[in-house]
Amino acid sequence: MSETDISKFVSEGNRDLHILFGSQSGNSEGLAEAWEQEATRYGLKGKVHDMDGFDIKSMAEMSRVMIVCSTWGEGEMPDNAEDLYESATSAGSILSKTNFSICALGDFCQSGKDWDKTLEDMGGSRIHDRVDCDVDFEMPAEEWMKGAMPKLACVDDSGKFLPDLVENMKAHAAGIEIEVPVEAAEGPVATTQAIPSMPQVALTPVMEQRAHAYTGYKQNSYCVKCGKYTFHWHGSSPNNPDLYPNYECKGCGFIRKIKIS
Ligand SMILES: Cc1cc2nc3c(=O)[nH]c(=O)nc-3n(C[C@H](O)[C@H](O)[C@H](O)COP(=O)(O)O)c2cc1C
Repeated sequence: MSETDISKFVSEGNRDLHILFGSQSGNSEGLAEAWEQEATRYGLKGKVHDMDGFDIKSMAEMSRVMIVCSTWGEGEMPDNAEDLYESATSAGSILSKTNFSICALGDFCQSGKDWDKTLEDMGGSRIHDRVDCDVDFEMPAEEWMKGAMPKLACVDDSGKFLPDLVENMKAHAAGIEIEVPVEAAEGPVATTQAIPSMPQVALTPVMEQRAHAYTGYKQNSYCVKCGKYTFHWHGSSPNNPDLYPNYECKGCGFIRKIKIS
């Protein structure tokens, strides 16, 4: 599927990505909110749900679900997740169209393991393996999101996962041009196609070194200049408050500025 087709795919039908958090001290909640923003890069509409007050039956209508949940006490759910977990264990097999993945926070991560098993017992499809993040959760959680979100973005309106789209979906999210083979009279010729769905992109190489004072968060993604899959900062910069987000490649130093009008 070409970039044009990916753009069409992400613009059709329901594109909701439901992100549920179980959190006692805010770590899981903070991740859920960051990923809600990230979802737009994959043509998804992120919707964050506090587990407290969430109706488990409503999950049956959700085709894309991420859960991020910590563990407290002695292997217990955080307070805001207890009631929902109890209702989930008796909800029955209602998740026939639900694709899910779990991010577990904690040193033993029992709650995340419990959610993983329970959603499977409810008939859900594990689209990406659970991660058990331990106490230093930022990097493993980020890596998990980078694996889970492109897959969830390749779930169509009916809940069917289209695995052949995943690599192009990652490129789409990173703003990389996709090689599109074109059939010519003499035979196939490779060309490239600009990505029409990226918002108001101005590519500006910045040569001078700058301190990393961004207020956003960090992630790995492909650099649009050198192509390296490397560490970037995302988020608004105090030096450029009109620009959001900025991407700064830690490989070649290229900064891509996306101006949001
Ligand atoms: C008092 C306390 C008890 C904890 N108990 C557990 C536990 O039983 N098992 C576990 O895996 N992690 C445990 N943790 C680690 C938390 O799950 C971890 O700090 C997590 O990042 C908290 O995320 P949250 O802010 O989203 O709740 C505990 C942390 C604290 C401070």
